[in-house]
Amino acid sequence: MNRPSRVEHPYDIVLFGATGFVGTLTAEYLAAHAPDGLRWAVAGRSRDRLERLRERLVGAGRAAEVGVLEADVSDPVSLRALAGHARVLATTVGPYLTYGEELVAACADAGTDYLDLSGEPEFVDLMYVRHDTRARETGARLVHACGFDSIPHDLGAYFTVAQLPEGVPLTVDGFVRAEGMFSGGTFASALNQFSRGPRMLAAARDRRRHEPRLLGRRATAPAGAPRYAGEVGAWALPLPTIDPQVVVRSARALERYGPDFRYRHYAAVRRLPFAVGGVAAAGAVFAAAQLPPARRWLSGRLQPGDGPSAERRAKSWFSVRFVGEGGGQRVFTEVAGGDPGYDETAKMFAESALSLAFDDLPATAGQVTTAVAMGDALIERLRKAGITFRVAAGR
Ligand SMILES: NC(=O)c1ccc[n+]([C@@H]2O[C@H](COP(=O)([O-])OP(=O)(O)OC[C@H]3O[C@@H](n4cnc5c(N)ncnc54)[C@H](OP(=O)(O)O)[C@@H]3O)[C@@H](O)[C@H]2O)c1
Repeated sequence: MNRPSRVEHPYDIVLFGATGFVGTLTAEYLAAHAPDGLRWAVAGRSRDRLERLRERLVGAGRAAEVGVLEADVSDPVSLRALAGHARVLATTVGPYLTYGEELVAACADAGTDYLDLSGEPEFVDLMYVRHDTRARETGARLVHACGFDSIPHDLGAYFTVAQLPEGVPLTVDGFVRAEGMFSGGTFASALNQFSRGPRMLAAARDRRRHEPRLLGRRATAPAGAPRYAGEVGAWALPLPTIDPQVVVRSARALERYGPDFRYRHYAAVRRLPFAVGGVAAAGAVFAAAQLPPARRWLSGRLQPGDGPSAERRAKSWFSVRFVGEGGGQRVFTEVAGGDPGYDETAKMFAESALSLAFDDLPATAGQVTTAVAMGDALIERLRKAGITFRVAAGR
């Protein structure tokens, strides 16, 4: 393993896609919270837009110095150069299935730590099959889903497990409540993934063939069934996002999750009509995504770069309640914060990049989850940044 040193690389962190919606919020967060001496750069395909962003950050006195690097996903040489400039490369350039692979490959080859905001299961599975081995050889940590997908759920399950006895079978249920709006980039990524059901399943099967078997332990994420969950006072609807997959990967990697770990992931809805309406709306978007004309019409509703206003984001929030059980104990925990998709995602993304760059972390390499790569150090950072992780009272 040959981790890049500060001497060999001009930048600690390079933020690619810095001129997009979440990219700009992440750049603003880094500028406002960068530790002294952070060497970082914004990267993207338009030098003009990057220079304007830099002027705004530096001009507002929010950053002493920020580099500017030009790169385009259609130019693999520019991506290789980008990977060679950074110890940690954080990219918001999505949909990742469309734009992401070359940069993962470049980072795996260069031994550069890579993080993204992908909530696209097919992309994450393909990257495991194609680039995990190379990243392990070079020491690169490839950490996907470093935003609302999947940090509150991955670190929330990790935090819940830490409250339960060791060495016994454990079950954790996560109940997500949130209010917020989509950006154009998120909507495009979701539509793209919805339209690729069979390819997503094929990538998951291929991954299972490549993953080493878990010997003597079990970690599963059954879908669960819709039910009234008295323990959180809400209707619970199974939520088939990437989050339960990420939680199970953490459980597979970390002995602390015990010999037999089960995680179920739900949307929690207080009133039954909202639960029925939510399922119908999700089903309608999923069905429309299967038909190219309907998909084109839907994707035209929100353009890349569009996203909720600061006022709208200020009213948005999320709360994930966890109920953990094992060894005769039951524990209730919560992870909560503000606008999930953008303000808090930018915070989680930037803090993950800083954690990979500067924290004293366990030795890991290859495709790793946020809990495995950063665990307690990232929880500590997010708490300081205003995201709640707490043991809650039961109902
Ligand atoms: N994990 C989560 O919870 C979470 C939350 C929010 C968003 N996301 C994901 O994050 C991603 C970005 O979302 P967003 O709303 O910020 O999208 P966006 O505003 O459309 O930004 C996309 C970025 O990609 C850049 N880009 C596009 N084509 C490129 C190319 N050929 N070469 C280089 N850069 C290129 C764009 O550059 P220009 O600025 O030059 O156009 C822009 O910076 C999406 O995949 C979304 O699903 C995830």
